[in-house]
Amino acid sequence: MFDMQRLEAVDIQGEPPLHEPERQYYYMKKCREWAVREKERAGRILTMSIQTLGCQMNAKDSEKMTAVLAYMGYEETEGPVADFVLYNTCTVRENANLKIYGRLGYLKNHKKKNPHMKIALCGCMMQEKDEVEKIKKSYPFVDLVFGTHNIYKLAELLYRQIRSERRVVDVWDEPEEIVEDLPGRRKYPFKTGVNIMFGCNNFCSYCIVPYVRGRERSREPEEIIREIRSLVEDGVVEVMLLGQNVNSYGKTLDDPVSFAELLRRVNEIPGLQRIRFMTSHPKDLSDELIEAMAECDKVCSHLHLPLQSGSTEVLEKMNRRYTKEGYLELVSRIRRRLPEISLTTDIIVGFPGETEEDFLETLDVVRQVRYDSAYTFIYSKRSGTPAAAMEDQVPEDVVKERFSRLLGEIQGISAEITDSRVGQTVPVLMEEVNEQDGSLITGRLSNNAVVHCRADVSQIGKILPVKLTESRGFYYMGEIQK
Ligand code: 5AD
Ligand code: SF4
Repeated sequence: MFDMQRLEAVDIQGEPPLHEPERQYYYMKKCREWAVREKERAGRILTMSIQTLGCQMNAKDSEKMTAVLAYMGYEETEGPVADFVLYNTCTVRENANLKIYGRLGYLKNHKKKNPHMKIALCGCMMQEKDEVEKIKKSYPFVDLVFGTHNIYKLAELLYRQIRSERRVVDVWDEPEEIVEDLPGRRKYPFKTGVNIMFGCNNFCSYCIVPYVRGRERSREPEEIIREIRSLVEDGVVEVMLLGQNVNSYGKTLDDPVSFAELLRRVNEIPGLQRIRFMTSHPKDLSDELIEAMAECDKVCSHLHLPLQSGSTEVLEKMNRRYTKEGYLELVSRIRRRLPEISLTTDIIVGFPGETEEDFLETLDVVRQVRYDSAYTFIYSKRSGTPAAAMEDQVPEDVVKERFSRLLGEIQGISAEITDSRVGQTVPVLMEEVNEQDGSLITGRLSNNAVVHCRADVSQIGKILPVKLTESRGFYYMGEIQK
């Protein structure tokens, strides 16, 4: 939760403090006063609906914003319509943007019925100037627009909107400071993401992330450890360390610290049981990290290692800075030290200029590595990235045909690997009631695979031994062992 002592000390009769987080605490309290009056006017509670698209980073940002809005007095609702609707957007692929415009069209009618409703957009898509212009012009009912660098200013921006009763658009090109002590309201009480760094310096030629999330910045290790310790005190047993490229963590700090070193320090935190991390760039994955993973008992038996393409030529055009052979060699080094590890990956199909031979190279890597699972994406042209200007964009029908061949290959391997573990008894973190069948609880193995078992809600949040009784292709059915 928030640093309550510092929050209570903020006086809202005077001018807003200039430093953070006090400044945001001031505006949170101001908005809370307003919300009390608003509740009286409406004669009911005020609801919020926060919809998150995209990656774990966005999920983490949404947890922070939920905490701020909850402090003001908004209560979470399940549905997509509420007094405060916030879309935390993604722009990695074009269809994520299209989704937002579809949702806005839907909300427009609801706002006609409830003119006090507030609609806010934030996150990666808002860092794109053309999209913000389009929203300003064609979606006048949107009240608040902000980007990825000023998420922590939600309270201040909302207060500005409330006072002016006009639309507020505030998107920064560059990040300023890393603001600590604005913790989040967790979706799960027992697990959460922890940002260790922000931004990306890699400029893979297809990717818009470096443009919308800015340059790489690492948090101080002491701040990260402090946050995780307090999360553990608050009931967290699993953390996911988050960064676009965690393997280059700490390089820009005044006192550089490697990611391997950070992992060792997190591993020592008493009470913490599981550590995950995302995402690893193959070019920066060191032997030191492999060793740390092997020695740290809390680090889960899973590594997400995006391949993107198996063709050295395509990898070069993607600016990935490794070759097919380099990647395969890295995988064997990892497997030599960590024979049980589950590997997962990201693959893009249809990058400009990708030939049938290039695609076969990708299939070859998939067959050699045998991923537990893989996220596969059809290449999406993002304006402003170098790849958008490349010639030989691959025709849609060719891409679709390759995509389904790749998917077939991945699913076949994935099912074989899943099957091979049936009969084993493994530790499982019980996470949530199954959506389709309320008598089942869904849990996760250390390797990130999912298992459904008959259990009691009181067991959620615990790590229990589960026998994997049946494979259903990419997940298991299991039984809790006494
Ligand atoms: N088109 C398709 N997939 C992309 N990704 C990133 N940019 C694009 C794009 N323009 C994928 C990459 C990355 C994942 C998060 O999204 O595979 O690893
Ligand atoms: Fe995008 Fe590459 Fe950075 Fe990942 S490492 S966020 S794919 S530029």
